[in-house]
Amino acid sequence: MIKVLFVCLGNICRSPLAEGIFLELIKNEELQCKFFVDSAGTAGYHEGELADQRMRQTANSHGINLVTKSRKLIREDLASFDYLVAMDQSNYQDIMLLDDDGSNRAKIILMRDYDFESDNKNVPDPYYGGQEGFENVYKILMRSNIAFLEHLKKAHEL
Ligand code: 4NP
Repeated sequence: MIKVLFVCLGNICRSPLAEGIFLELIKNEELQCKFFVDSAGTAGYHEGELADQRMRQTANSHGINLVTKSRKLIREDLASFDYLVAMDQSNYQDIMLLDDDGSNRAKIILMRDYDFESDNKNVPDPYYGGQEGFENVYKILMRSNIAFLEHLKKAHEL
């Protein structure tokens, strides 16, 4: 089982969508049994809440149902997951700080390292913007996750 954790700040916008898209992609390729997928936030402001209504609406318009409830990233996640996929460089730094002995450093990656259409390393936080920001996040996360899954298929010979 390959364990993938998507991480953003609040775990109500970007990482729930990244998780939903990744689940959809592995379902389409009948690879569900190979993966355990989850998401978390570096902050706990929205713990227990469903994903943001605007994000759920955007996901729904693309046939993806987001059902996750927000949870905070914990230190144990570093040991238990194989990949911790940060939505932006600030999330990346915060995950690195939790990894105090550096033993899990290689597992911590940036989502947009798999966006081959842009040099921007950050999935923009759509929380304080309009609906178009959510659609933009969808596009970024779809193309990044397609490439990320292709990478995983090669790396794990799936
Ligand atoms: P996310 O977006 O990190 O993509 O879930 C945010 C959600 C909530 C807040 C910030 C970012 N907030 O400040 O409450």
